[in-house]
Amino acid sequence: MKTYTYKKSVALFKRAAKVIPCGIYGHLSPAPLVPATDYPFYASRAKGARFWDVDGNEFIDYMCAYGPMVLGYNDPKVDAAAMKQLKSGNCITAPAPIMVELAEHMVDTIAIADWAFFAKNGGDVTSYALMTARAATGRKKIVLVRGGYHGVAPWAQAAGHPGVIDEDHSTIMYVEWNDFEGLERLVNEHPGEIAAFMATPYHHPTFVDSELPAVGYWSRVEALCKKNGIVLIIDDVRCGFRLDMRGSSEYFGFKPDLACYCKAIANGYPISALVGTEALKTAAAKVFYTGSYWFSAVAMAASLATLKELKRLKAPELMMARGKKLLDGMIDIARSHGYTLNVSGIPSMPSVYITDDESLMLHQDWCAECTKRGVYFTSHHNWFISTAHTDADIKKTWNVVDEAFKVVRKKYGM
Ligand SMILES: Cc1ncc(COP(=O)(O)O)c(C=O)c1O
Repeated sequence: MKTYTYKKSVALFKRAAKVIPCGIYGHLSPAPLVPATDYPFYASRAKGARFWDVDGNEFIDYMCAYGPMVLGYNDPKVDAAAMKQLKSGNCITAPAPIMVELAEHMVDTIAIADWAFFAKNGGDVTSYALMTARAATGRKKIVLVRGGYHGVAPWAQAAGHPGVIDEDHSTIMYVEWNDFEGLERLVNEHPGEIAAFMATPYHHPTFVDSELPAVGYWSRVEALCKKNGIVLIIDDVRCGFRLDMRGSSEYFGFKPDLACYCKAIANGYPISALVGTEALKTAAAKVFYTGSYWFSAVAMAASLATLKELKRLKAPELMMARGKKLLDGMIDIARSHGYTLNVSGIPSMPSVYITDDESLMLHQDWCAECTKRGVYFTSHHNWFISTAHTDADIKKTWNVVDEAFKVVRKKYGM
């Protein structure tokens, strides 16, 4: 099997490093891709479940742009809706009617939603959720789960990161994932002080396994928050519409007060949303919050088309089934080479790690060997399955996975 080289990617990155801080920053930075020499840095085009890099190499994409791609790149229905809106207008001095249609559709789709507010990135709406909770309760403190990710606002970053000051965390408190007793203790120690508890529907940190909620965890958290006047915020930015069209909280059987959406809601067009209950609508309205591009009608048209198509396809169930098929096959192939592939989280957003080497070296090498044969796997972050991943993609993936295990077995033995 031919392995890829990345001459043009490397040349572009060298140019980028001179004029862009980091060359490529944030979640697309090559820093966690190990060895970075086995990964492409720049994509030239994408279609369905695949993308092509600037060197002409083709990849089956299991990162889906880190979540936004859910129906396949360049989905014809979504693109047609976006282009139709573009011809009428995008950023105008007054919002377009599509904004109302989209809000109505989200309210009809998401179980807890009585209203919807639109912005651009996930971090816009996680910050807005905190402000809304503070405006509603008149309280300052926020409880988060240690290791959870809610964006790059200073309050959401780890203390000590460059540019983050101690004061950014003066009102933030942390509990461990699934530790209901720890949360209850904190609530009892700070009566009348906590505005909100924010968490993802299940815990999906980087570099380690994902953890699903323990039985009864969310219903106990919901009851505790209700009893103590604490706003329960679900950060559904990553999981949203990959578990349940009605909201991931429905999948796990609980009702938050606010829910944050981004990634999968417009198949790659830039838009995010905060939805909430009637009780919080006035507080949400009082918070002044906006941005130059937040009324962009093109992304709203794309979002409405995406949500309709996700519903029509029963996308969450479809992606779960595809993911399960892919992963079951991969686990068997790993076993046939004497390795253990541990899968956690949910099959449409799996965290996958080879457990036979604690250092992560073998796992990183294996992901890189797959990538340079055309199956793009990261070794530090959960993967994503879209509705565009076909049986043929899965079969090709299994072949590459098999070959990559042969390569790492030669290097590491077993
Ligand atoms: C759970 C979660 N919340 C918030 C964010 C931040 O979203 P964005 O990067 O669009 O600001 C992310 C991004 O990965 C996320 O996964």
